[in-house]
Amino acid sequence: MSTDAIVLLKDDHKTVEKLFKQFEKAGDKAYQEKRRVVDSIIEELTVHAYIEEEIFYPAAREAVPETADHVLESVEEHHIVVWMLSELIGLDAADETFDAKVTVLVENVRHHVGEEENDWFPQVRSAMGRKRLQELGQRMVDARAQAPKDPLKLHSATA
Ligand SMILES: [Fe+2]
Ligand SMILES: [Fe+2]
Repeated sequence: MSTDAIVLLKDDHKTVEKLFKQFEKAGDKAYQEKRRVVDSIIEELTVHAYIEEEIFYPAAREAVPETADHVLESVEEHHIVVWMLSELIGLDAADETFDAKVTVLVENVRHHVGEEENDWFPQVRSAMGRKRLQELGQRMVDARAQAPKDPLKLHSATA
């Protein structure tokens, strides 16, 4: 099985995009379904942000120092996303702000993922090479179990 770090991160992005589509397809009054989907989004994005912040971002910044600004902006984007996730944790899906918060969250994450995948991952891939990306990915797989449940416990929450 491949543990290429970039392949793993893109797989996470796909998983989250599927959840976004499920949310968008759910009926206005499908409160239970929307609550369940948002719980999955919170869990997936918290683990994903954790492995990026703890392992991938620092390694990529070291490998491609000229993309340091991109990494710093990415952490600020995570900062906004984790605050939105923390607000969604206890929020009733019937609350009038629920759909609005999820919609803005989805816009933010899609923009962020687009920048990671289109501009930045290819630069990191060519700087690191296959073997290093495999090792990095293995560390990411191992680290998933240590991710916090609370998005506000992420490094980016207080960055
Ligand atoms: Fe990210
Ligand atoms: Fe990502």
